[in-house]
Amino acid sequence: MTNDILKGKVALVTGAAQGIGLASAQAFASEGAAVGLLDVNLVAVQREAAAIQASGGQAMACHCDVRDEASVQDAVAAVASALGAVNIGMCNAATLTPTASIAEMPLEDWNQALAVNLTGVFLTAKYLIPQMLSAGGGSMIITASQMARVATPLRGPYCATKGALLQLAKVIALEHAEQNIRANTLSPGGIATERMARQYGDLATAERDWGPAHPIGRLGQPEEIARAAVYLASDDSRFMTGSDLLIDGGYAAR
Ligand SMILES: NC(=O)c1ccc[n+]([C@@H]2O[C@H](COP(=O)([O-])OP(=O)(O)OC[C@H]3O[C@@H](n4cnc5c(N)ncnc54)[C@H](O)[C@@H]3O)[C@@H](O)[C@H]2O)c1
Repeated sequence: MTNDILKGKVALVTGAAQGIGLASAQAFASEGAAVGLLDVNLVAVQREAAAIQASGGQAMACHCDVRDEASVQDAVAAVASALGAVNIGMCNAATLTPTASIAEMPLEDWNQALAVNLTGVFLTAKYLIPQMLSAGGGSMIITASQMARVATPLRGPYCATKGALLQLAKVIALEHAEQNIRANTLSPGGIATERMARQYGDLATAERDWGPAHPIGRLGQPEEIARAAVYLASDDSRFMTGSDLLIDGGYAAR
């Protein structure tokens, strides 16, 4: 289903090589946006951008490590110079964190989670905001998690960084509301992606073990989050800023 509701927009997605980021980039493109796909996995984003182009969309790929300020600055500039000023930014990249209690968490694992999940979003937003200002406004979409609200034992760095993103989005929203820039978090529940397969060994095990934690009785699909990303990116959500859109199959309702 496409309505071209993002026609004329330029979108940038980090962590776009697979999963939720890729599904969102594909959905933005199918709604008419030109899309920059950014990831540390350059080969995969090149392949996916080519596939979008082959199906009639407009896309480009760029290497970007969101932990590295120069890398983010260069990638944002490359997308803007190829596609135009960016007015949809999806800060989505996150690292996998080993499960451990706080007492047993190695400092390097904690630091890695902060560097990708939190500092990476700060850096991406920092370089996207000037783009949105020159575009006359924009929508920043920050992928958080149901674990921003619901604490889970052994997932300290993940819960802490995702919780922090809710506040970061609110600050961006308040700093730039008058300039027509909106910022919201998008919080998925358990979604059947590569991340989940790696955490549980495979997707069937993830579905069996974690699906039932969601009152709807299953894991979500990346496309179900991508539709929410399209909503946040589009003018349909024009009165929404500084907020969190929770799409979690009821997980946080318990
Ligand atoms: N899958 C879920 O159940 C779930 C639930 C809640 C929230 N989320 C969030 O949704 C987002 C996407 O999740 P997913 O399941 O698609 O993840 P994923 O692990 O399948 O994909 C993440 C992507 O980010 C990229 N990436 C990792 N480190 C990077 C870095 N330093 N710089 C640039 N790119 C980097 C990876 O290469 C990968 O392509 C994440 O923010 C995640 O925390 C996922």
